[in-house]
Amino acid sequence: MTIKYMSVLTKTKETVIISGQTPLFGTVTTQGSKNSALPLLAALPLLPEVELTNVPDLSDIHVMVDILKYLGATGTFSEGVVKLDLRNLINRPISVEFTDQLRASSLFMGSLLGKFGEGRVGMPGGCVIGSRPLDIHTNGFKTLGAEVDSGAGYHTVTSNGLEGQFTLPLPSVGATQNLIYASIFSPGEVKLHNIAIEPEIFELVNFLNAAGANITFEMPKTLTIRGVKRLNPVQFKVQPDRIEAFTLLVAGIATKGSVKVTHCCPEHLTAPLQSLVDMGAKVEIGDDWIEASYVGPLKGITVETGFYPAFPTDCQQQISILMALAETPSILTEKVFNSRFRHLDELRNMGAEIKVNDNSAVIKCAEDAEGKPKNMIGYKVDSYDLRGAASMIIAGMVSEGVTTVQSLRYLYRGYEDFIEKLNYLGAEISYK
Ligand code: UD1
Repeated sequence: MTIKYMSVLTKTKETVIISGQTPLFGTVTTQGSKNSALPLLAALPLLPEVELTNVPDLSDIHVMVDILKYLGATGTFSEGVVKLDLRNLINRPISVEFTDQLRASSLFMGSLLGKFGEGRVGMPGGCVIGSRPLDIHTNGFKTLGAEVDSGAGYHTVTSNGLEGQFTLPLPSVGATQNLIYASIFSPGEVKLHNIAIEPEIFELVNFLNAAGANITFEMPKTLTIRGVKRLNPVQFKVQPDRIEAFTLLVAGIATKGSVKVTHCCPEHLTAPLQSLVDMGAKVEIGDDWIEASYVGPLKGITVETGFYPAFPTDCQQQISILMALAETPSILTEKVFNSRFRHLDELRNMGAEIKVNDNSAVIKCAEDAEGKPKNMIGYKVDSYDLRGAASMIIAGMVSEGVTTVQSLRYLYRGYEDFIEKLNYLGAEISYK
């Protein structure tokens, strides 16, 4: 099948060249959240019409809009605004040509099931950061009364309306979202226990409730979805991207500078900001801004990733760069995905001292022959996934000499104007 609906991403260059050791100083605005915008877009088959603002210009967002247009949506994505009429959607299988491009495509299973009583969605692709099964999604659908057929490259889910209760064995973000979509038009009520409580889940709940859904949250981790007959047109502003904000703060500290990010939600970053303080950085927080500054040598810390409100896996690769600059060792353990350490091989090539044992790494700064701290050295490095790409760019900015970072297609999945923002703050990065 040929994809005929391709919208256009403005960033296409695959490589950047970085002149290292330029400190970053200044203030930048946080982009709209990728991980909020994607599940809002996946919910759209349930709505008649939408205007979403503060939508970041990312390749993953373009693919989601393309899928919606393939299903029959009409409208535009331009200048941060997605404006779509979804009244004439038809239920078509979403083939692997689409779904191979991003993991979030699997979220259409739930929204097509909720809207049409059937969803047929190709196996999802996305960043290779470890095994990413969909068993919690499919077991949830089945427990609530759907039939699931996973064969011939597709998951096909059918039902006459979900009802009942399901306890997620672990609080998967995607499974929580998929089960919410599928339950919106329930003939009765669905209760989901042990749901994910990431800010992006509450954003989706607020969005759907603004459109007329009836979803309530009970502490500590339960959602009740009472079925409604229809949703209404809605206008909604996507919340700020907590991961982009953190990445920019790390870039400031790593380069021995000071970066302030505005239009963000500091309360979404409690654990990662605490880690920056524990490493010896200065962190100041306002209502909607955060400023992080380098104020002296960094100390090693212990970080273990986990479900919100624990330290997010999506910030793990960025903090590893600060660990590679600290004079005392850090221990970094990745508990959410089982293959998210490939960037550490590149960091080691730049001189950092890194020992990996399964999902745990001991990381400290580069050393000379006598074991004294020294700078990392610029290198030609590759990116293997989205957060890894941003982290390698930060590594290049702190290293001596020139670093080339390749495979920027991963960067464009999640960062809108990353290179432009860094250059504005004082970096010397050029596209090749
Ligand atoms: C979302 C985020 C991603 C983030 C991740 C964890 C989006 C678009 N992506 O991904 O950036 O890194 O949350 O915070 O919002 N799991 C199963 N079975 C399932 C589903 C998940 O075992 O059916 C496991 C996964 O292998 C992983 C863990 O649960 O170990 C977390 O995955 P999940 O929360 O589902 O992540 P995503 O929704 O894919």
